[in-house]
Amino acid sequence: MLSMKRIIVVFCLLFASVYSDQDPFYLGSTLYAPYMTSPTEPLYSLVMQREFNIAVAENEMKFSGVHGGGQTIYDFSRADAIATLAMQNGMKMRGHTLVWHHAIPSWLSQGNYTSVQLAQILVDHITTVIQHYSQKYPGLILAWDVVNEAYNVERGYLNEQAALIAAGKDPTDPANIKSPRTIWSKIGQFDAAGNPISTWDPLRDYVRLAFRTARAADPNVKLFYNDYSNEGISTGSTGNYNFVKGLVGEGVPIDGVGMQYHLLLNKPTDVNNYSQSTLLSNLQRYAALGLDIHITELDVRIPTSDATGFIPTTPDLLAAQTQVFANVAATCAQTPACKALLCWGFTYAHSWIPASFAFFGAATPFDQNYVPTPGYLALQKGLLLRKKCCF
Ligand code: XIL
Repeated sequence: MLSMKRIIVVFCLLFASVYSDQDPFYLGSTLYAPYMTSPTEPLYSLVMQREFNIAVAENEMKFSGVHGGGQTIYDFSRADAIATLAMQNGMKMRGHTLVWHHAIPSWLSQGNYTSVQLAQILVDHITTVIQHYSQKYPGLILAWDVVNEAYNVERGYLNEQAALIAAGKDPTDPANIKSPRTIWSKIGQFDAAGNPISTWDPLRDYVRLAFRTARAADPNVKLFYNDYSNEGISTGSTGNYNFVKGLVGEGVPIDGVGMQYHLLLNKPTDVNNYSQSTLLSNLQRYAALGLDIHITELDVRIPTSDATGFIPTTPDLLAAQTQVFANVAATCAQTPACKALLCWGFTYAHSWIPASFAFFGAATPFDQNYVPTPGYLALQKGLLLRKKCCF
């Protein structure tokens, strides 16, 4: 006879499978094709396959990744190698990213294109890339980061201009400008005859065009706006929220917001910057706009004593980092609109952090030997809150 415990377990497993079919949660990481197939790193593919049901290309789907050779030249070979592996392993993908101020190839940055030509290039790029994936890999791409970091880049530019003016320096002199505007901001500045357009909005015009183009290219794929400094509640994150809210309010087709979550702990007490309450408040205000939320690029960097970024300086930092992984996972798990969480690399061995932030690292849930860190366990435990039954 079946014991009551077994009956409950079977019922719960059935319930969990139905629940997960209807409302899958995606946990993922960047996937780099050469490591996935490398005989010297068998653990890379083992961990990828065992842990994750969604992948993202760290660089290969960016503008220069697929459209680096010239205005009419697209090369999907490196990006498709990742898409094929994801497909073969039963994973979904996030498409990252169509419009960004980085990964701009020289043919574009040095092309001296007019405002109208730039708009044509943007429309052609978005349409070609989205349709390539919807036709060649139907259903693979769950969501596109249509626009990446627009708000924060414009904010940085405007702050810098204000500082230059306050210091009595020329804000138009390229020698003074450290953070020039994205190339895309020129869209909408002039009409085809070269006359200035009085309503030019250097931040929103290209963003609106990008989302409308993406929707026309594929009515089914989810369209996301992705940005950083968007964790708890701060001046920057509130500006980001108001920016997205404004676009949604005017009917721009945005389905979701991506929050990068490149987190930083300089000292153990910095854990307070990422409390569950502040993270939750930010997620909830986006959810209230009717948007899906993906945490798109999670890593938690801490000071390391080695330049390779493998050795955390103190156990206290590792403990604080573990708490942050727990907070992030639990907050996402408690928010029904939060439907995916992706790490920006999963092993210390292949993380962008040490190369980008000197003497920081140990930022991922697996160490350089593919051993789960305490942060991994905290992440998994936090996500269990999402599973409504039996775990
Ligand atoms: C980073 C990659 O990890 C690096 O390899 C590359 O050199 C620069 O870009 N926000 C983003 C990502 O949206 O695309 C960035 O990826 C990290 C910050």
